[in-house]
Amino acid sequence: MAEDWNDYADGWDDSSDVRLYADRAFASLVSTVDIRAPVWKSKRVLDFGCGTGLLAEKVAPYVGGLIAVDTSDKMIAVLERKKLDRVSALCGDIFDDALRARIGPSGFDLIYASSVCGFLPDYEKTVVSLARLLKPGGRFVQWDWLASGDDGTGLTMGRIERALGKAGLQSVQAGRAFSMAANGTDLPVLIGVGTTRSRSSLD
Ligand SMILES: C[S@@+](CC[C@H](N)C(=O)[O-])C[C@H]1O[C@@H](n2cnc3c(N)ncnc32)[C@H](O)[C@@H]1O
Repeated sequence: MAEDWNDYADGWDDSSDVRLYADRAFASLVSTVDIRAPVWKSKRVLDFGCGTGLLAEKVAPYVGGLIAVDTSDKMIAVLERKKLDRVSALCGDIFDDALRARIGPSGFDLIYASSVCGFLPDYEKTVVSLARLLKPGGRFVQWDWLASGDDGTGLTMGRIERALGKAGLQSVQAGRAFSMAANGTDLPVLIGVGTTRSRSSLD
């Protein structure tokens, strides 16, 4: 059954595990894409499945603008109450024309999705759609639980590599990013990265 993420919105930021996941995703992001470099002050970023913006809070100070999208209106309401500089929060579905019109025609330099893709019913189709929103040379980064095989959630490295490749992304890589402790075991979190062709390679 699909999660109703609205049910989690009010207590989301109170979870130390959720905050730790965001800390580790941010550390993983800066070691993958140097968003702290001055050039990122003019770059445009999309946080797909932003939740309450725990990762957006960390990324926004380094970039020109960040659009945070989520289908849960209650997650978006929590994020909006934070009134983060350079963050525009939008509630809606990426396949919806109205949402895409609000995002605007110019592409993104970076799209990331932290603990989102493994919960999507249409992961592969969604990556295709997100990849189309990237500028030439733009990066897509995702973090997801490694599939454990018993409950149907999570992704495998192979599935991530195939999805990003089929979406036309280049230099695709998937691997372990970090792990989270739970009930005495370490739960691995995967990272997937891909890049759109740069403008020069399109000439
Ligand atoms: C596990 S939470 C992660 C939230 C946030 N990225 C974080 O790390 O705290 C998954 C989020 O994905 C959002 N989500 C699920 N399906 C979505 C979709 N199709 N489009 C946008 N967001 C979606 C949920 O509403 C929820 O906020």
